[in-house]
Amino acid sequence: MKNFYSNIIKPNPKNLNKIIKILKKDGIISLPTETVYGLAGNAYSKISIRKIFNVKKRSKKNPLIVHYYNLKDAKKDVVLDKRFHKIFNKFGPGPLTFILKKKQSSRINPIACANLKTVGVRFPKNKIIRKILKDLSFPLAMPSANKSSSISPVKATDVAEEFGNKIKIVDGGVSKIGIESTVLNLDGKISILRPGIITSTQLEKILKIKINLKYNQKIIKSPGSLRKHYSPGIPIYLNKKKCPKEFAFITFGFKYPVTRNSFNLSRKSNLNEAAKNLYKFFRLIKNKGYKKIYVVKIPNKGIGFAINDRLKRAAKK
Ligand code: TXA
Ligand code: MG
Repeated sequence: MKNFYSNIIKPNPKNLNKIIKILKKDGIISLPTETVYGLAGNAYSKISIRKIFNVKKRSKKNPLIVHYYNLKDAKKDVVLDKRFHKIFNKFGPGPLTFILKKKQSSRINPIACANLKTVGVRFPKNKIIRKILKDLSFPLAMPSANKSSSISPVKATDVAEEFGNKIKIVDGGVSKIGIESTVLNLDGKISILRPGIITSTQLEKILKIKINLKYNQKIIKSPGSLRKHYSPGIPIYLNKKKCPKEFAFITFGFKYPVTRNSFNLSRKSNLNEAAKNLYKFFRLIKNKGYKKIYVVKIPNKGIGFAINDRLKRAAKK
């Protein structure tokens, strides 16, 4: 009998060879990272890039993040300045995307960057994707592996829910972090375009300057960042203290009772745990058929800032 999820494959050596062949032939494939699962293709190939935009139904105005194995590879396409090195020395590789100036000689397909003069560059930490990147002679353009505006996937079956049997998915277990990378603009004035697990306070400490949170402003530097996003497709109400029984109640902390309709992000009030559970709960609640979600107030400090950012965007009408 054919397994519905027959397109989910284990990252054994035989399969890794297959994956590399697919990528070399301009194919696309879903790969695990420490943040969320991505939909990967050769960043130098117009064919691969087109496939990614089509499968995701993504606007061509919204640039993709390009993933590299190391600095030597990235240097071929983007300018790595002092500020970059300072931050990379502390946080690279990891859940951080740098917006950097594209070099004239860069081979990145212009469509991948929405024809901008900058590139979103990330060095993922996940061991499976690092193995793959190491064997390739090109970087991987890789947005989150979900249809545009939907919930980012944090495990292989989540990706299968998004795209069915259309693409192969490499099973790397549950994503450690569970929300997308921090996006940091290093083109001109430094700013955070998308908050994440690496916070502005951590970055400010290293650079010894104040960092803007530009994503709050009207200027759309990250074209995808102001639209409704990360959404389970049902109305979400924030900062609620109580919730009717028939709706899903996302809670945080020990004081909330365990009820059938409640989903506690972290009983211990641990924000890392809460971030890891957020998309998992969104998907679970959606699949259980709830029509509305109520969410309690989440502390707006540290990683809580990124959680609130995703909640606000998911709640956008
Ligand atoms: O954690 C992550 O970053 C995941 C994993 C798979 O690496 N990827 C991810 O990609 O979240 P995506 O495409 O879902 O989100 C990329 C964000 C978008 O908001 C996009 O607008 C912004 O990064 N971005 C990419 N390149 C940019 C650029 N050159 N200038 C400004 N924003 C950019
Ligand atoms: Mg995304």
